[in-house]
Amino acid sequence: MSTHAVVRDDDYVIDQNWVGYTADDHAVWDFLYRRQRTILADRADEALLRGHEALNLNRGGIPDFAVINEELKARTGFTVVAVPGLVPDEVFFNHLANRRFPAGQFIRGRHQLDYLQEPDIFHDVFGHVPLLTNPVFADYMEAYGKGGLRALQFGKLKNLAALYWYTVEFGLIETAKGLRIYGAGISSSKDESIFALDAPSPNRLRFDLERVMRTEYRIDDYQQSYFVIRSYEDLIRATLDQDFAPLYQRLADGISHLPEAILPTDQVVTAGTQAYARAKASGEVI
Ligand code: PHE
Ligand code: FE
Repeated sequence: MSTHAVVRDDDYVIDQNWVGYTADDHAVWDFLYRRQRTILADRADEALLRGHEALNLNRGGIPDFAVINEELKARTGFTVVAVPGLVPDEVFFNHLANRRFPAGQFIRGRHQLDYLQEPDIFHDVFGHVPLLTNPVFADYMEAYGKGGLRALQFGKLKNLAALYWYTVEFGLIETAKGLRIYGAGISSSKDESIFALDAPSPNRLRFDLERVMRTEYRIDDYQQSYFVIRSYEDLIRATLDQDFAPLYQRLADGISHLPEAILPTDQVVTAGTQAYARAKASGEVI
């Protein structure tokens, strides 16, 4: 979700060209799928795990969009479309507003199994697409797309992007079994899946819409704070069911919170030690 310099006047959709993937590409998918499923078994929200299974994402190799779209469309009306990589914000919002999820066509190579900057097909299809089988979450994503087009008009994209970041990408959810992962940035990452739930370092704070929309975020490292929702219905109530116009007016005061901040008004689930961020800053961790 960032802007490319080249402006094209199309929707950026390309053919997935499934037959063009190599045996190695398929092997990378299978490896990553198995590795993440093992890590996520007791860490991811049921809705995400059931989504992987509903779409049968381990039928062998990289999923063929034509095949998974049949199941996805039947469940929520969403489809996955292939794009070359990141697309301009407006294009991204437009797809979501029309219940299409734009997914990177390419897969990472063997030399970058653990981390890469651009969203590839594993991040997008293993991380994001499974929750689109959930009707409530699907509604949230469509509304987010519409809200994005609106945020552009208000000049408040940065704030809306923070909402995406701390929910769709890095969200945690409270369940009867304890905290669980639902954000795709976490669930598609080997190390952050463990860090986000198990490490003493990060804060885990209750989700509050305005608070989140005022919070800075890091795109190049683990998060210093994660925000915890109680349910997807709660997330919908706080977003889809609210008119953001008054909120955008209030945000004009420009107050922004650091990623590691704990405010007096926060409901703290766990206060982080920030040991990881400190070690990193002093060069102890590379
Ligand atoms: N309700 C928001 C608005 O009025 C739009 C939105 C919905 C944003 C859901 C995010 C998620 O702009
Ligand atoms: Fe993503």
